[in-house]
Amino acid sequence: MSEIKACLFDLDGVLVDTARYHYIAWRELAEELGFDFTEHDNERLKGVSRAASLNILLEIGGITLGEEEKARLAEQKNNRYVEYIAKMDSSEILPGALDFLKECREHSIKVALGSASKNAMTILNNTGLTPYFDAIIDGTHTSAAKPDPEVFLLGAQAVNIAPEHCVVFEDAEAGILAATRAGMRSVGIGSPETLGAANLVVPSLQQISVDALRESFAAI
Ligand code: BG6
Ligand code: MG
Repeated sequence: MSEIKACLFDLDGVLVDTARYHYIAWRELAEELGFDFTEHDNERLKGVSRAASLNILLEIGGITLGEEEKARLAEQKNNRYVEYIAKMDSSEILPGALDFLKECREHSIKVALGSASKNAMTILNNTGLTPYFDAIIDGTHTSAAKPDPEVFLLGAQAVNIAPEHCVVFEDAEAGILAATRAGMRSVGIGSPETLGAANLVVPSLQQISVDALRESFAAI
């Protein structure tokens, strides 16, 4: 058993309810391009970088575009998304997230962010979550997207904890894979159907405590 010394959190869908803003902004773009984009389609975009998300969206719409036009559309989507998150406040922190972050601190467990988003700082500041982190690694620090382990390895390095002592919290399949590739244990936040590769799956951070985590991970 490796002692838990750091918890690394994904942001969108784990700590804050931003998935719907991403969805609305992508759906508006799809409508302008002349096709429907459903919530089911949106599942494929979770945890995926902005540029890769646009590629998936265009594939769904059966549209091929050049790089310049794609860059323009990604910016257009992001401008809309930024308008939504500018109005966010602490009411959009997901159930159990704040209590669990505080509990980590009480147990002297390091807390780091590992997010693909380039808008992470805006979200953390608007929701008041910034002070709960010892290190913040987001899409502005990384060059490879999940499932590459880079974001979590950088997070572990920033808090000076070896991967075997880190636990990753993720709502996306690609994120769980990234944690495994980083040599870390993982907790899936969501449903076991999509997150079955995680060491443990819970519906939200409300169902987890440091003691329960230590117990579940005692043998791994
Ligand atoms: C991830 C989200 O956290 O960040 C994805 O799950 C999103 O849906 C990605 O595409 C990049 O976010 P942003 O804010 O840089 O466009
Ligand atoms: Mg996520």
